[in-house]
Amino acid sequence: MRWNFAYLILVICLEARCAIAAFDQDTSWDYILYVQHWPITVCMQWMEKSANNNCTIPVNYQWTVHGSWPTKIGTDGPQYCNSTWNFNRTVIEPIESELEQYWTNIEANTELESFWEHEWKKHGTCAVNLKTLNNEFNYFNEAITWAKYYSIGDILAMHEIHPDGSAYSIQQIHDAIKSTLGVNPVIECVVHGKPKMSLLSEIRLCFNKSLSLIDCDIDKMHYLFLDEYLYDLEDGQILTDCSLKRPIMYFGEIPHFKRNIRDEELEEQQKYLSQMGQLYQFLQFLIWLTL
Ligand SMILES: *[C@@H]1O[C@H](CO)[C@@H](O)[C@H](O)[C@H]1NC(C)=O
Ligand SMILES: *[C@@H]1O[C@H](CO)[C@@H](O)[C@H](O)[C@H]1NC(C)=O
Ligand SMILES: *[C@@H]1O[C@H](CO)[C@@H](O)[C@H](O)[C@H]1NC(C)=O
Ligand SMILES: *[C@@H]1O[C@H](CO)[C@@H](O)[C@H](O)[C@H]1NC(C)=O
Repeated sequence: MRWNFAYLILVICLEARCAIAAFDQDTSWDYILYVQHWPITVCMQWMEKSANNNCTIPVNYQWTVHGSWPTKIGTDGPQYCNSTWNFNRTVIEPIESELEQYWTNIEANTELESFWEHEWKKHGTCAVNLKTLNNEFNYFNEAITWAKYYSIGDILAMHEIHPDGSAYSIQQIHDAIKSTLGVNPVIECVVHGKPKMSLLSEIRLCFNKSLSLIDCDIDKMHYLFLDEYLYDLEDGQILTDCSLKRPIMYFGEIPHFKRNIRDEELEEQQKYLSQMGQLYQFLQFLIWLTL
């Protein structure tokens, strides 16, 4: 009887330890997924969510940072590595104007720092176990340095890929990055509107722990094992979630043409109906006259 009791206590203790261990997540990681996005596409997505949403577009219409995400091979994350390390706006004050330019909070009707705070809690607190990114300032400052150095807009423009509402192929976009930086990027699209369009959304670059650019590759991306995320085109592997069935649109401004076409249609319809109404009244009048 006494033995059983002791055994029970032991089991409870072991269980408790398991529970504690489960909360104590593995915060190690292998590489950084550095994500830049195209503000116009982000804005179109944001405005679609609610009629109250509006956007801040950086003055010179450049690609901006979404985030710097420490990642373990074969998984997403780690994420939210230190819940007690709060975001402190004072720390980034010296670089805040640069952050506004290069790490813009596109969602204008939210608190300016809410985007940075989110990225810090979710990803920044995991990056700090690397010496070169060991605090909030270093984490944000490195992302800005990269944004200046690896300017996606400039790289695409060098290869005649301009945000003018033209459509481009996934191969063109991949080749532009690959031939300039020498590494495989990940290219992300969002599907938007009716009829459905594929909009160029994000270019992701991979950095190793010496903060050198490296190839993003299939072995590193767990979600890329899905067929739709990987294309083997003539010139090797392309990592993307963009649909091959649709051209990839790269808009320089929020396209309004859909609404205009609809408005014109409505106007035409109304004109037609009112003409028909007048005709109907005239016929009624004739009938009344002749009876
Ligand atoms: C977005 O909307 C808010 C609330 O209506 C307004 O205060 C703000 O100036 C707008 N921002 C932009 C960039 O249009
Ligand atoms: C978490 O953040 C706190 C507050 O900055 C710090 O004192 C602590 O060392 C951090 N813990 C880990 C595991 O990094
Ligand atoms: C935020 O950072 C500033 C500057 O480093 C520091 O003086 C202040 O104590 C910090 N605030 C908090 C709440 O940690
Ligand atoms: C990172 O990549 C660079 C260039 O390929 C290489 O020289 C360096 O050793 C790598 N660092 C790590 C930690 O893998």
